[in-house]
Amino acid sequence: MTRTPTSHFGVLLVGSGSATPSQVISNDQLGKRVDTSDEWIKSRTGIAQRRVISNHETLHGLSAKAAQKAMSMANWEPEDIDLLVLATSTPDDLFGSATQVQAELGAKNAVAFDLTAACSGFLFAMITVSQFLRTGSMKRALVIGADQLSRWVDWDDRRSCVLFGDGAGAIAMELSKEEDGLIGFKMRSDGARGSCLNLNNNEDFEELVDGTVFQKGGFSPIRMNGQEVYKFAVREVPAILESLLNTNNVKPKELDWLLLHQANQRILDAVAERFSIPSEKVLSNLARYGNTSAATIPLMLDEGVKDGRIKPGDLIASSGFGAGLSWGAALFRWHGHN
Ligand code: ACO
Repeated sequence: MTRTPTSHFGVLLVGSGSATPSQVISNDQLGKRVDTSDEWIKSRTGIAQRRVISNHETLHGLSAKAAQKAMSMANWEPEDIDLLVLATSTPDDLFGSATQVQAELGAKNAVAFDLTAACSGFLFAMITVSQFLRTGSMKRALVIGADQLSRWVDWDDRRSCVLFGDGAGAIAMELSKEEDGLIGFKMRSDGARGSCLNLNNNEDFEELVDGTVFQKGGFSPIRMNGQEVYKFAVREVPAILESLLNTNNVKPKELDWLLLHQANQRILDAVAERFSIPSEKVLSNLARYGNTSAATIPLMLDEGVKDGRIKPGDLIASSGFGAGLSWGAALFRWHGHN
């Protein structure tokens, strides 16, 4: 699906925040659990360590911390928030964790709901939220990307467990009648190719009564065909980014930053190479966090903003991709707080 915004209202990215768990697990430590090595993981993925939520932390707690920081940067009060969307595939409550975040923030005037699109979740949520702002029906929104894949990883499967970590990131977005920071976007999904990456309900059925059965709740660990996911990413991400840049008449060399979902350094390098984007413009913090699913893009954005690399007015091309399969891209300018 592709849309060029038609309304005259714009949206601005005016705040960012992030929060990560306190537990750090190095590659060498993982090597005590599965047959792997720091050398193998670093050379194939670029990952050196990941963070994992402990029994003192919660996904909605980290999400609230990240959102609080984004709100503070934007100089907003909790009552100012109209909309809060939490992109996650691993909520604390299957009925939705966005309202738990709302309660922790005290954002009592907001409507809050979850959006599930795996590693594309943050980008899809940002685009979804922008549509509410563009119509003028809402003015201030928090978009959070957070995941706790450590819950659903098979920690004895070396082919997948080395990739993932937990984290949360958030942005504050507001309606603007003067400027537009979201220049364009594209979103795609293809369920026919979805079987290479799943976190399915388990298939345990138990007797209910008189021979009737019910399915017992619970999920099987993540199942992934790494090579298929890799091929999908290096084919579809450059294609959607190229189409987005062409639609908006932007040349790759005009970009200040390439901000991709942090899945694997080799994927980041392959996409950058395709557009001849130098490595110093490719944002990466994979080494420290691994793949935090919906959190990677806002976590990386916040890091770049906080350390001064990303400056107001910078032009950023971003792409999220993952399970579904789903993928998307957005072209935006970081605005920051006035
Ligand atoms: N340590 C040591 N050896 C390993 C490990 C490990 N952690 N994992 C696999 N191996 C072995 C395999 O067993 C295999 O050995 P064999 O040939 O004796 O069977 C060998 O290494 C090669 O395995 P491959 O799977 O071919 O390794 P590959 O080079 O493809 O790298 C990887 C695997 C890193 C998973 C890569 O395919 C990849 O990054 N794919 C993308 C995955 C991804 O990003 N998923 C998340 C998507 S986002 C989302 O929505 C959640």
